[in-house]
Amino acid sequence: MPQSTHRFSVNGARVEIFERSSDASEFAADQIRGLIQSCLTTRGKVVLGLATGSTPEPVYARLVEAHQAGSLSFEKVTTFNLDEYYPMSPLDPQSYRSYMHRHLFAKVDIPPHQAHLLDGTVPEAFVNDHTAQFDQWIKAGGGLDFQLLGLGRNGHIGFNEPSNLPIEQALKLSTRIVELHPMTIADAVKDFGSEALVPRRALTMGVASILEARSILILAFGERKASAVARSLQGPITAEVPGSLLQTVAGQVTWLLDTGSASQILR
Ligand code: F6R
Repeated sequence: MPQSTHRFSVNGARVEIFERSSDASEFAADQIRGLIQSCLTTRGKVVLGLATGSTPEPVYARLVEAHQAGSLSFEKVTTFNLDEYYPMSPLDPQSYRSYMHRHLFAKVDIPPHQAHLLDGTVPEAFVNDHTAQFDQWIKAGGGLDFQLLGLGRNGHIGFNEPSNLPIEQALKLSTRIVELHPMTIADAVKDFGSEALVPRRALTMGVASILEARSILILAFGERKASAVARSLQGPITAEVPGSLLQTVAGQVTWLLDTGSASQILR
């Protein structure tokens, strides 16, 4: 198992820095595998919050490898994904539903009714009911044992985008429909082909459900994430940098970084 080259804590959060992002991904997959096994042993079930985007792809590849090698089953795993574009067909190759199908769900033994994503086809008039229900599903499942996160260049977690809300309100944000931030739209052009094709809105798990996860693993790689990482870890807690809200539950949070993304952390 690859080991981090630096391990320290920042404002109570554990930080592990790896020479290569591939090492961090292998480490992450191993942590998730261990967590699944320990929850299954103690409780007979496990509830995971999952992320999409380019960062976790190698993590899912490792989990699939472990499944194919016979050392990991998803039969008793329940998952809740962070977000989905709106509107969005699940069959669209750019949907997060089809991303999850491609990278994980179709390759492991998870029962379909245990793999939950927000639905980008819900009629507009029922979106608020749907997002409120999603939070209820998580609660009814006993809450998230674990949440996997990536970090936007603007510091977003899920699609909880920067805002000027007071901190107390930002911490209580529920699952809801949001407008995407210009930087998020710009970063999605590589997937959609042109800016005009990027959806302007999305459904996202709220900050409150994310922070209630019993453990959180956040991955960020490359210099382009360095500023968002440093501001999240060491900046003031503010809704302008949603990643900084993780400082309020720092004891549950582990940051897996590479040398690029860790380059602006002051030590
Ligand atoms: C995806 C998500 C986003 C991404 C973030 C980083 O489900 O919630 O917050 O984690 O935008 O994306 P990548 O990994 O593509 O740089």
